Amino acid sequence: MKNYKSILLSNIGRLITANFDGVQSVEDTSILIENGRIASIGEGQSEHTINCGGKMVTAGFVDSHTHPVFYNKRDEEYAIRLAGASYEEIADKGGGIVSSVDGVRKASKEELIEKVSSRMDRFISMGTTTIEAKSGYGLDTDSELKSLEVIDSVNQLHDIDMVPTFMGAHAFPKEFFDNHDAYVDIICDEVIPAVAKQGIAQFNDVFCEEGYFTVEQSKRVLKTGQKYGLKPRLHADEFVDSGAAELAGEVGAFSADHLMAVSESGIQALAEKDVVATLLPGTTFFLRKSSYAPARKLIEAGITVALATDFNPGSCYIQSMPFIMTLASMHMGMTVEEAFQSATYNGAKALGLENEIGSIEVGKRADLILWELDSLLDIPYYVLNHPIRYVIKNGNVVFGP
Ligand code: NIG
Ligand code: FE
Repeated sequence: MKNYKSILLSNIGRLITANFDGVQSVEDTSILIENGRIASIGEGQSEHTINCGGKMVTAGFVDSHTHPVFYNKRDEEYAIRLAGASYEEIADKGGGIVSSVDGVRKASKEELIEKVSSRMDRFISMGTTTIEAKSGYGLDTDSELKSLEVIDSVNQLHDIDMVPTFMGAHAFPKEFFDNHDAYVDIICDEVIPAVAKQGIAQFNDVFCEEGYFTVEQSKRVLKTGQKYGLKPRLHADEFVDSGAAELAGEVGAFSADHLMAVSESGIQALAEKDVVATLLPGTTFFLRKSSYAPARKLIEAGITVALATDFNPGSCYIQSMPFIMTLASMHMGMTVEEAFQSATYNGAKALGLENEIGSIEVGKRADLILWELDSLLDIPYYVLNHPIRYVIKNGNVVFGP
């Protein structure tokens, strides 16, 4: 399929989209795309038509939390977990995030570009049209800058849109095992200024968790980032409640992510400061944990809940947003409509992009999925089979026959 300036998607059996009001469904309609954007819905003509055959069209998925810049997979950790060890125990014995650092430090930019690019092919094939992508396996100035350059290059080469996040505060590298504050000094005094000068990263993320960055250290990193124009988001209260959600409220984070162990006061802080709660049920599943994040409580507190994969080599090797919808509806009590809204519009909100992407509205980018399915329920019901005919990104067909 060529890239046309204008395309009409005709004979759409059901158009499904979500915004802050929830899910809307329109039957028997069409979408006119012009110059990569949605020009009109239900009217309009074009020389070039895709007949949707009465099937369903939805917005593309927005995966607002991923760690795709790594060299080696860590399948051995999967085996160790199957034998009974926990993620935390594996990390305590030298596995976990730091075991991905050597690979990234040694790899050339080109080698990483090739790996990240093929990971993006898979994301697109499962309907994800925008992802947030974090650095965070380099943990020194040069390797963090290299990781962000890789994200920037793949973003330019690939059809998918990538939103770059700096995550130098992902873990303490081996050289700083005995002096955590010295690493925080380096992040604040050297790495963040270099990242800002490089000009690629939009966000600054911290792993605020017992054994990783304390609330005080996280606050320093996030506030320093803000001075340099990097917007804050954080990994918060994943395994234990350390007051990270409260910190997210205090610094005005775009999103607080994980939240498996969030406290009542943390929930209140997120609600008061309108911080998006990004839930990552794939990680809970992949780590064999039983306590999923309290999605219902968060929704009932009026918090915007987003869903994302957390794709990374250690705690979650899942790239499928439809499967995340399955987990959210099966294990977190979310309705299928809520899960869809969280995987599209609310994900866009977690990135500050809700006026550009995440829903099918006139003027927004034409990021769409044409399914071989008839209903929203079918997306999670099909679990790991994703019957997608076409993925359209910025008005171009980027996946399909
Ligand atoms: O979001 N929690 C921190 N970071 C990742 C884990 C990354 C890894 O194990 O490599 C996460 O789960
Ligand atoms: Fe993560």
